[in-house]
Amino acid sequence: MQILIASPEVRPLAQTGGLADVAGSLPLALTRLGLGAAVIMPAYQSVLSNPALSFEDPGLNFTVNQAGENISGSLLRGELAPGVPAYLVRCDRFFDRPGFYGTGGVEYPDNPERFAFFSKAVIKVLPQLADYPDILVGNDWQTGLLMPYLAVSGLERPRGVFIIHNQGYLGLAPPEKWPVLDLPETVNTIDGLEYFGQSSLLKAGIVYSRALVTVSPSYALEVQTPEGGQGLDGAMRHHAHKLVGILNGVDYNLWNPETDKQITANYSPNNLKGKLKCKKALLAEAGLKGRSQRPLVGMVGRLAGQKGFNLVDEASADLFRLGLSLVVLGSGDPFYEGLARNLEQRYPEAGKVFIGYNEALARRIIAGSDLVLIPSMYEPCGLVQMYGLKYGTVPVVRAVGGLNDTIRDFAGHNPEGRWDTGFKFSQFQAKALVLALRRATELYARPADFKAMVQAGMKEDFSWDNSARQYRDLFDQVLRA
Ligand code: ADP
Ligand code: GLC
Repeated sequence: MQILIASPEVRPLAQTGGLADVAGSLPLALTRLGLGAAVIMPAYQSVLSNPALSFEDPGLNFTVNQAGENISGSLLRGELAPGVPAYLVRCDRFFDRPGFYGTGGVEYPDNPERFAFFSKAVIKVLPQLADYPDILVGNDWQTGLLMPYLAVSGLERPRGVFIIHNQGYLGLAPPEKWPVLDLPETVNTIDGLEYFGQSSLLKAGIVYSRALVTVSPSYALEVQTPEGGQGLDGAMRHHAHKLVGILNGVDYNLWNPETDKQITANYSPNNLKGKLKCKKALLAEAGLKGRSQRPLVGMVGRLAGQKGFNLVDEASADLFRLGLSLVVLGSGDPFYEGLARNLEQRYPEAGKVFIGYNEALARRIIAGSDLVLIPSMYEPCGLVQMYGLKYGTVPVVRAVGGLNDTIRDFAGHNPEGRWDTGFKFSQFQAKALVLALRRATELYARPADFKAMVQAGMKEDFSWDNSARQYRDLFDQVLRA
């Protein structure tokens, strides 16, 4: 079985969030199961100009017609790993830009054209690929149009499977952009792409895929409710028969404190000395020396409304009263970047904020912290809490989506000798967050018990094998249907 995964981000080529981790590691996991897998992504400026990445140009040129205009592009070829091809769709007019989707928090106004072009190009180049796919996997709104394009192509293969990593990003095209999508007017209805007077590229993927996946079982339920559906809950309920939640996996070859070369010292569940070194180094880096006896809370993530940083801001006084230190790394929405900077200014003795995207620093924070805080409003899966577990950094999370599915809330005792793995809170409220952090700091004050929880988390297994098998079974079903 051959799988082609189309994604707007693939680690290590281009990344803004967890989608890239998944698009970079799922194909490797499928390959380990004996399937053939490849990825295809736009040829962004940062990828073409990165001397560490090499792609060949085999002269595969094509044109795509968009609203009557012929736009040319080419297909570049490289490798994600030995035996896992990575293809880039090159079109400098659309992708030779400083950002993937926009700059300075402002989306490129021609995103519908850009990703309609990408989706069309993927279908167009299929016959050129050495391994013609049986299954074409789309990921999020940027690739939603693949599904109707496949449906109208009349092709028997590949069959389209659409993965929703985040229903909060609808990929909206205003009515005047409709012509560039190049679909029959009859599909721009409530049963098709129409979304409150606009067209949603995400909805295109939902409606026209053969199977639909959300990245955790809880999120599959949440997207069918008015609270979690972002206006698409009706569509999700309508298509619930083809919807399944499959939890993301973690690539422990990349995320493992025993082998991670980017952290200060390595460590394992049975020898945590290195973790203390990581903590001290992180405190020094953050200008918070002398606080190594206090619980250190880390946060790493996109600064977007979804991630609940406003709760941290609101809770800040109570939170620091617990005696903890806080180190934040994030970038994204200028509003939340501002909140974060302001927090550091108000609590310079206990809090440090790094604005930017920096994987090495992310690793140092995940390794060096005692607790990792993820107070999301919603969280389709979340990878940072799973990295936290592996690095012995106890997650404190809101009980939503994948956060709810991966963390067991500390019950205050461990009757069966099985330690819970973190702290959860339900209400999206500052006081609920503070309460969860208070419970966590109380356990921290009991070193033997805290260590037991740390070790329990490190032994949790969220490797890809299990999830990749679920994907394989789903692909099997889709091909048999
Ligand atoms: P999301 O996909 O919603 O952003 P996830 O928890 O699934 O959330 O994945 C986030 C991924 O992006 C993780 O690998 C995390 O380490 C990484 N990441 C997010 N923000 C940053 C940042 N500012 N610097 C480095 N890595 C980041
Ligand atoms: C998204 C979600 C996140 C998920 C990631 C990978 O960006 O916000 O929860 O882990 O995609 O699926």
